Amino acid sequence: MIKIRGLTKRYGDLEALRGIDLDVAPGEFLVVLGPSGAGKSTLLRCINRLCTPTQGEIHVDGERVEAGGAGLRRVRRKVAMIFQHYNVVPRLSVRKNVLTGRLGTMPAPLSWFQIFPGRDVDIAMECLRRVELEGKAEQRTDTLSGGQKQRVGIARALAQQPRVILADEPVASLDPKTSRTVLTYLKQASQELGISVVCNLHQIDYAREFGERIVGVSGGRIVFEGGPDGLTADVLRRIYPGLEDRGEPAPRAWQPTRPHNLSVEEA
Ligand SMILES: Nc1ncnc2c1ncn2[C@@H]1O[C@H](COP(=O)(O)OP(=O)(O)OP(=O)(O)O)[C@@H](O)[C@H]1O
Ligand SMILES: [Mg+2]
Repeated sequence: MIKIRGLTKRYGDLEALRGIDLDVAPGEFLVVLGPSGAGKSTLLRCINRLCTPTQGEIHVDGERVEAGGAGLRRVRRKVAMIFQHYNVVPRLSVRKNVLTGRLGTMPAPLSWFQIFPGRDVDIAMECLRRVELEGKAEQRTDTLSGGQKQRVGIARALAQQPRVILADEPVASLDPKTSRTVLTYLKQASQELGISVVCNLHQIDYAREFGERIVGVSGGRIVFEGGPDGLTADVLRRIYPGLEDRGEPAPRAWQPTRPHNLSVEEA
């Protein structure tokens, strides 16, 4: 579903990604682990071209991801995103937030005036049922808890009817129990609908629990690729270098240090 070859991204002198080769199968739930600054968000952003690779090729569902034009629009319709800070519109109802996931499929005049055909409303409600929030459809989204807002984020992504979901630290702002609930909804939807998920996480326990496959990124390179059982102490030290030098045990959980800039760098 996703094919990445020789992906390099430089920001001036800084090499954020240094030759990434990666395949993601249809319906696969892939977790990306790595220390802060490893290049995890840059990798996700390159996949739907929120940032432009310096070198390399990316294909999504057989289509090369290239700058501009109808091709990029087609790719972006197939790729939904879920954000750490939910990116919901606080004043809109839950249902309207989910409906914004349908905007990319609608004729421009309807989307300008936010007139949603009945079929789109049905799709939005079905997506809300998947995250068990149909009872809150008419509630303002800013009245929800963080976990519920992220479930709205998942429903909005599903409403896009994507082939791929890119989730950048979707549970970094949530407590452990809520994090599990949110990841469970995401994984269930991925399995039932055959959606490939690439999910950046800082929590090794959740990577083990939810990842069908795990990719460890460090210094812009893939330093581990394998199943959850492969995440041994040695592998964790490879992914999180420096721990051994300081005599620290491999981390069980990792807290992010800064919010994420997910704005569009280039379209
Ligand atoms: N727009 C940008 N301009 C310049 N440097 C950038 C830009 N975006 C990212 N970087 C740099 O690229 C490197 C990788 O950043 P990235 O955000 O991908 O890391 P990350 O693995 O997602 O980290 P975190 O776990 O903290 O989210 C970092 O050194 C970062 O400072
Ligand atoms: Mg990041």
